[in-house]
Amino acid sequence: SNASLLILPGDGIGPEVMAEVRKVIDWYGAKRDLTFDVSEDLVGGAAYDKHGTPLHDDTMAKAQEVDAVLLGAVGGPKYDSLDFSVKPERGLLRLRKEMDLFANLRPAQCFDALADFSSLKKEVVAGLDIMIVRELTSGIYFGEPRGIFEEGNERVGINTQRYTESEIDRVARSAFELARRRGNKVCSMEKANVMESGILWREVVQKVHDEDYPDVELSHMYADAGAMQLCRWPKQFDVIVTDNLFGDLLSDAAAMLTGSLGMLPSASLGQPMANGRPKALYEPVHGSAPDIAGQGKANPIACILSFAMALRYSFDQGDEAARLEAAIETVLANGARTADLMGPEDGTPMSTTQMGDAIVAALDAS
Ligand code: NAI
Ligand code: MG
Repeated sequence: SNASLLILPGDGIGPEVMAEVRKVIDWYGAKRDLTFDVSEDLVGGAAYDKHGTPLHDDTMAKAQEVDAVLLGAVGGPKYDSLDFSVKPERGLLRLRKEMDLFANLRPAQCFDALADFSSLKKEVVAGLDIMIVRELTSGIYFGEPRGIFEEGNERVGINTQRYTESEIDRVARSAFELARRRGNKVCSMEKANVMESGILWREVVQKVHDEDYPDVELSHMYADAGAMQLCRWPKQFDVIVTDNLFGDLLSDAAAMLTGSLGMLPSASLGQPMANGRPKALYEPVHGSAPDIAGQGKANPIACILSFAMALRYSFDQGDEAARLEAAIETVLANGARTADLMGPEDGTPMSTTQMGDAIVAALDAS
């Protein structure tokens, strides 16, 4: 049977950028005979408007069944005053939690045509292609005790950093598997110098390496030093694996090495399903961008690159993923720019649909 894909466009610019992904998906069906069973549903504010909940149970069930979920973005000012339990982002959190998506893949990839656009020197970022694997379901954002408590005559805010061996083991395996398909190098980051969880992290990552991935080059780095090295010479890295908190910070910093939020894809992967494919959710890093929603200004590339990740990691179509990335490189090299990729003096930007059309045209020529 065909590979199945659930599309959840969401709110704000989510549906606008997803419409361009649909063009790409249609192209693969028509020109490469690569077809997907695509279904579409609501998430976030759009789901709340219709069902009074940011993720309907039927949508959740569907997400558990398909080979991959592709999500646009959720949220917006219209929903800011809603009760916490039905806020749009709760829909996304429920997906991540119930699908148990423990490995968050955040590539930082610099398209040559945009190297000038980075805040760093061109030689530091040109050709950059690294992958940060962030543990997503445990660590300090979830550990107990957690809360604001009375202590004597004042309050104390508490979060607990907590990792079990199996939680570290499974995300380390994801990183080593990825590295084998890339540059065969993993750098693990923690603070084993000052944190117990860091000591355990380093030990477990080393053990997984020695037992099952001795062919992959492994190094360890303190996360603060890692932040420095990421800015100084990011090309020294291939895959970086780190915990939830450090990964949150390091992946945002690494992302900005390469320019705009409108260019950044992500994947969140869980355990393999019966068919061997991992549970998977793909989404751009950006949000619903209410400031530009409805104006045709959004850059669709982050969402299209998220689909490229789905081709590579869910559908075993690495060559087709590379074809899509090359098409994007081509249109950028030819000067195609949405507003987020331009300075104020750089002329007239392309619209969302013009960028999508240009990418499909480049695919046609590939
Ligand atoms: P945002 O990512 O939506 O926007 C930040 C800035 O980047 C804005 O100026 C926006 O116009 C620009 N931008 C974002 N994506 C772009 C694209 N594809 N092309 C061109 N410009 C782009 O983050 P913000 O403003 O903090 O949040 C807006 C809403 O999105 C909030 O409701 C927030 O909760 C939600 N959000 C949702 C996320 C998700 O669905 N995963 C992630 C982050 C925020
Ligand atoms: Mg963050």
